[in-house]
Amino acid sequence: MSETVKLTYKDKNYEFPLIEGSEDEKGIDIKTLRAETGLITYDPGYKNTGSCKSAITFLNGEEGILRYRGYSIEDLCDKASFLEVAFLLIFGDMPTAKELDLMNSEIRKDSLVDEDLKSILKSFPKSAHPMGVLSSLTSGLIAFNPTSVDIESEEDMREAIIMLMAKFPILASWTHRKVKGLPLNYANTSLSYVENIAHMMFKLPHQDYEPSPVVVNALNKLLILHADHEQNCSTSTVRIVGSSHAGLFASVSAGISALWGPLHGGANQAVIEMLEAIKADGGDTKKYMAKAKDKNDPFRLMGFGHRVYKNFDPRARIIKKAADEVLNELGVNDPVLEIAKGLEKETLNDPYFIDRKLYPNVDFYSGIIYRALGIPTEMFTVMFALGRLPGWIAQWSEMRRNNEPIGRPRQIYTGSKHRSI
Ligand code: ACO
Repeated sequence: MSETVKLTYKDKNYEFPLIEGSEDEKGIDIKTLRAETGLITYDPGYKNTGSCKSAITFLNGEEGILRYRGYSIEDLCDKASFLEVAFLLIFGDMPTAKELDLMNSEIRKDSLVDEDLKSILKSFPKSAHPMGVLSSLTSGLIAFNPTSVDIESEEDMREAIIMLMAKFPILASWTHRKVKGLPLNYANTSLSYVENIAHMMFKLPHQDYEPSPVVVNALNKLLILHADHEQNCSTSTVRIVGSSHAGLFASVSAGISALWGPLHGGANQAVIEMLEAIKADGGDTKKYMAKAKDKNDPFRLMGFGHRVYKNFDPRARIIKKAADEVLNELGVNDPVLEIAKGLEKETLNDPYFIDRKLYPNVDFYSGIIYRALGIPTEMFTVMFALGRLPGWIAQWSEMRRNNEPIGRPRQIYTGSKHRSI
């Protein structure tokens, strides 16, 4: 007999079934709770609430495990390209060579956006935050590609997915080029997906550009590491917006807004800002180590510790190596990055950080790589969005294909009782 959980309320007993995932995670199925008992659950931040069943990403923070569709993040970073990982997340399996070729050629064909989108971009001031611009341009894609997606049609679904995978890097690079005052680029279809991202971002009008393999390799890993992280804030946003049957572009545009926040995608920006503040204050890392350890001081070392990964962050291990390679290859001479290296060394040998298992996290190293590549700090979250796109698409498709009901949480009302004017 399947397991149940018993609840007693006002001397009445209720039983709710246990639901079990493929990695032995268990939850209480409370779908009938309110109908049976009149009660709802209260769980701000949804820390104990499973909003869906999902077959895309498995993570176990205690053991430092992150897998996409069953494949470990270590294996994927070692052996796969970002486009293969995107295919895996969205369609469920690693692509064959033929499937990958087809996806590549479809993306190349679709690597254009309507020129009129440029006038939308132009209307933003240069000082506009790239994430706000990216969200607007993604939403703008709807106006230029207005046919709605019939989720019953595999062809329709694929078309929308390919369109977004193809056009999103162009929009992302335009937000960067706008900040830098550079002419707007299109893709070079002889390059791979990740080489093209580097090309669109960094190609100068008066110079040839050949992305270095170390840079492409680091970008490839960074994008893979950020590609999905199950039901985080932006992904839940994409699913909940899509649950109203809003289209893929509208749902992803909302996801970009959610990712923008400093508590979510903005942490790597906070790392560089902290390092710059330390530099401006004379570069004394010991002083800031002492501040971080002082219980009367609210200061924390940005880029250290993680809410979910308590023993180690598997993504940080991979990206540390790529960060070392990028710094060596580019021979970067940057006092801010010197401070980063100093902090890393000191914390790894300091009992306060060792005892609390506070290791540099993925944001610490990704911030360093982006800085070394010359990407402006306010563009870091856009790079995160480029990586997260396949995850958002996969989660949106899964939600629509499972025909999930519209997301509509309840509340405990604490306002005034009925009163008259
Ligand atoms: N610097 C100094 N001390 C820290 C830090 C830090 N970065 N992080 C945690 N601690 C200390 C706490 O003071 C606490 O000490 P105590 O046990 O003596 O009271 C102990 O470590 C445990 O900290 P918690 O706050 O309970 O850990 P929690 O899991 O709640 O927080 C978090 C995790 C938010 C990531 C935290 O480590 C932090 O603020 N880090 C800095 C911000 C950051 O890098 N965020 C990005 C996270 S990665 C991501 O989101 C993709």
